[in-house]
Amino acid sequence: MYRKLISVIAMAGAASVATQAQAAELTISCGAVGAELALCEEGVKRWEEKTGHEVKIVSTPNSSTERLSLYQQILSAQSSDIDVMQIDVVWPGLLANHLLDLNETLGKDAAEGFFDTIVTNNTVEDRLVAMPWFTDAGVLYYRKDLLEQYGHEAPETWQELTEIAKEIQAEEREAGNDKMWGYVFQGRAYEGLTCNALEWIASYGGGTIVDGDGEITIDNPQAQSALELAATWIGDISPNGVLNYTEEEARGIFQSGNAVFMRNWPYAWSLAQSEDSEVRDRVGVVKLPHGPEGGSAATLGGWNLAVSKYTENPDIAADLVAFLTSREEQKRRAIEGSYNPTIAGLYEDEEVLEAVPFFGTLYETFTNAVARPSAPTGDNYGRVSNAFFNATHNVLSGNQSSAEALSQLDSELSRIKRRRW
Ligand code: GLC
Repeated sequence: MYRKLISVIAMAGAASVATQAQAAELTISCGAVGAELALCEEGVKRWEEKTGHEVKIVSTPNSSTERLSLYQQILSAQSSDIDVMQIDVVWPGLLANHLLDLNETLGKDAAEGFFDTIVTNNTVEDRLVAMPWFTDAGVLYYRKDLLEQYGHEAPETWQELTEIAKEIQAEEREAGNDKMWGYVFQGRAYEGLTCNALEWIASYGGGTIVDGDGEITIDNPQAQSALELAATWIGDISPNGVLNYTEEEARGIFQSGNAVFMRNWPYAWSLAQSEDSEVRDRVGVVKLPHGPEGGSAATLGGWNLAVSKYTENPDIAADLVAFLTSREEQKRRAIEGSYNPTIAGLYEDEEVLEAVPFFGTLYETFTNAVARPSAPTGDNYGRVSNAFFNATHNVLSGNQSSAEALSQLDSELSRIKRRRW
């Protein structure tokens, strides 16, 4: 009673600043890829200053696959250890039962003005289980200086990329740069490989593994050809080590000046342009190449903020989510870290476009990115993706032909489908 009274008096004086008596302690999990953690810390600090609440930040593993299993453990134990979670765009269907409906805590219009596709993606059985924080799509980074020196434009097809990479790698090595590689990407057996391989296959006209109606489509000749070409890269234009690369290993090679091309997400831009980068001002960004029969395809990525159903402070946690996903925070994150906003208007903001010019030139790539089949496969998506990246990894490592791997994958996906989706 006494405590309540104190806080009522204090609130009368300082509208939204919490007093000691009512200050809550929350925990948020943030990613730690590139500058992610630092940006999260700054945002959280602003909210703490504004509200008087305290927030503990826990960083999570860089691999989305590992993060998912950590979250699944915490949530299935119904633990209140983490109040606010950064969740991947492919997880709403997997985690919805453990997350609060933010339309209840933040109001019906909570997600107004945000990209509709992401809001739909984050709405499971009419419940808004996460607020869109930043979106992502795969893009091609290239060395402007090297392409110019050897007389090439950025490649339009995967075949062109392969040839240009081979030529420049050979010339540069000849000239004494024996660490130079043609192409780096995410080749470890994890979610990132699902994203890369979906881009190859979709851009060959080979579909999206499972289509919108839940039909398995992966065993087709275009998908086979796409994987066959990718397998030729290993040990040739891409180091053998790429089979164990996530985003950050690929960025490390490219940013130290040792790769002609890199597939990565937009976050790598602000780091490649940073003062200590070896390639500052020598990098171009274009849409990814395509195969003989398809158009360029970028996998849709991105992260959202959700509130755990097991939190002891649902309203305060939701307020933190609203603050971090606000226009102002998204603008700061776009300028400082090249994180794609989830609010369309920010793609016309001059300061944002000055910091990240390709948010303007590649706007269509971001709004037309290809979704992984998480919606049609629902809570089986994790199994589907695991089966797909393992099959792809087998082909890249030379353990299986693409025909054999895709036919086995087809049977495995059929088994998963029979059981549940
Ligand atoms: C990026 C994307 C995410 C994806 C992950 C794979 O973080 O935003 O959606 O699952 O990469 O590595």
